[in-house]
Amino acid sequence: YLLLLLLAFLACASIHVLIIFILGTKKSKSSKDPPGPNPFPIIGNILELGNQPHQSLAKLSQNYGPIMSLNLGSIKTIVISSPKLAKEILHKHDLILSNRTIPDTIRALDHHIFSMVWMPPTNQWRILRRACANKVFSPQLLDSTQILRQKKVQELLDFVNEKSEKGETLDIGEATFITVLNSISNTFFSMDLGHYNSSNKPQEFKDIFFGIMKEAGRPNVVDFFPMLRKLDPQGARARMNKYFGKLIDFFDGLVEERLGRERKLSNDVLDSLLEVMMEDNSQVTRPHLLHLFLDLFVAGTDTTSSTIEWAMSELLCNPEKLEKVRKELQQVIGKDEQQQFEESHITKLPYLRAVVKETFRLHPPIPLLVPHKSEDSVEICGFMVPKDAQILVNVWAMGRDSSIWRNPNEFSPERFLENDVDFKGQDFELIPFGAGRRICPGLPLASRTIHIVLASLLYNYDWKLANGKKKEDIDMTETYGITLHKAQPLQVIPIHA
Ligand code: HEM
Repeated sequence: YLLLLLLAFLACASIHVLIIFILGTKKSKSSKDPPGPNPFPIIGNILELGNQPHQSLAKLSQNYGPIMSLNLGSIKTIVISSPKLAKEILHKHDLILSNRTIPDTIRALDHHIFSMVWMPPTNQWRILRRACANKVFSPQLLDSTQILRQKKVQELLDFVNEKSEKGETLDIGEATFITVLNSISNTFFSMDLGHYNSSNKPQEFKDIFFGIMKEAGRPNVVDFFPMLRKLDPQGARARMNKYFGKLIDFFDGLVEERLGRERKLSNDVLDSLLEVMMEDNSQVTRPHLLHLFLDLFVAGTDTTSSTIEWAMSELLCNPEKLEKVRKELQQVIGKDEQQQFEESHITKLPYLRAVVKETFRLHPPIPLLVPHKSEDSVEICGFMVPKDAQILVNVWAMGRDSSIWRNPNEFSPERFLENDVDFKGQDFELIPFGAGRRICPGLPLASRTIHIVLASLLYNYDWKLANGKKKEDIDMTETYGITLHKAQPLQVIPIHA
């Protein structure tokens, strides 16, 4: 009798386990895991990324939908490609989904520990964000540094003038990179870090920033297989150590020199952040400050100048739109006695603003945003995002989605004259700066700089393509990297208007 009871119990228990197993696997396969291409053993879906991951992922999402799951080596990756899902990730669940996956190169000199861009959203991160909001990017501060940006734009115009008089070719991306670099370095340190190529001075900082961009943008096997970290098989972290080391040493020298002064004289960002560092019980330490400068220069320079290059390229491909911006500028600035572009003019220039939005739609500088990571598993629109997954938001795909935009591949700023859509993180169909708690803190500075540089170039000059090229010859191919660049730099000849 006892034996019979035991057998019956074992049978019931086995059936129970079987039911749980079947229901469990069915649940995770059919309704919970986001769909995606089948992974190969070990490498998973790495090969699907190709040379242009944002484009390959956009194509895959047409088959698998706006939330996809891929295995990039051993890294579970969730790819989002619709405004609705982007809002879920960056707004509704951003408390759980705002951590970062750390590329191996970012571990150089422990950057990931001190860096605001890469640290988890902890109290330390909040303190650094607050310091940035109050001491670097507040509207009052940006208003007070406007004069400085105007001076740097005037230097760009002087350089363009030199080129124009000699009938020489200008590389728009290269020249505007120097303008943006010097705008930031003067706001922060009251000094120029870049030089236009006619000055024949060494371009040490430009070379370092481009080196960092190249290393951070290049695929690294360690990011797919973290167990190889110690080996650094491509030598990428070692090279990054050198670049970061040069910048950190330079910033540290500036800090040392300032701390040795008796009175603060410069009234720049360095002075105000040193004040924060010297407060009693301050949690902003010297390494935090040095790595913050590194972050702000790397995040703020190339993104801004490449947007200007894309905007100029689109306008040269579409001369009737270029003419429309110039007319608007002549109407607004031409009436001004100074005839110099000021940031207060931006609100009076709806077509110029529409050109910038349209450029961000087609050419978001960081097409997959900076990768997020889930702190915990979370359900998004019926799909499960597992704990520790990397999350990529494909803003490039959203910008070219025909279910969101009419004729999505056409450069048509007019579409933004018909609505209030803006890139400030509220309208999820256009989020080149991200949205939610990790939204780019440099947005207000980037926006002012892009408008002022673009307006000044277009107001003061007519533009001819170099080497007798016609608009049809402009190559709009992209190269993927930490920022999305034009594969062929825009070469133009300025003609005084
Ligand atoms: C983060 C875009 C200019 C500083 C980001 C992110 C994006 C972005 C997409 C990541 C958002 C996310 O994680 O969801 C851009 C674009 C720019 C630009 C398109 C110009 C066109 C700037 C400038 C600065 C800056 C001028 C500063 C000088 C930062 C920093 C972060 C960041 C510090 C990290 C924020 C954090 O993780 O908490 N940016 N950015 N960016 N950006 Fe920008």
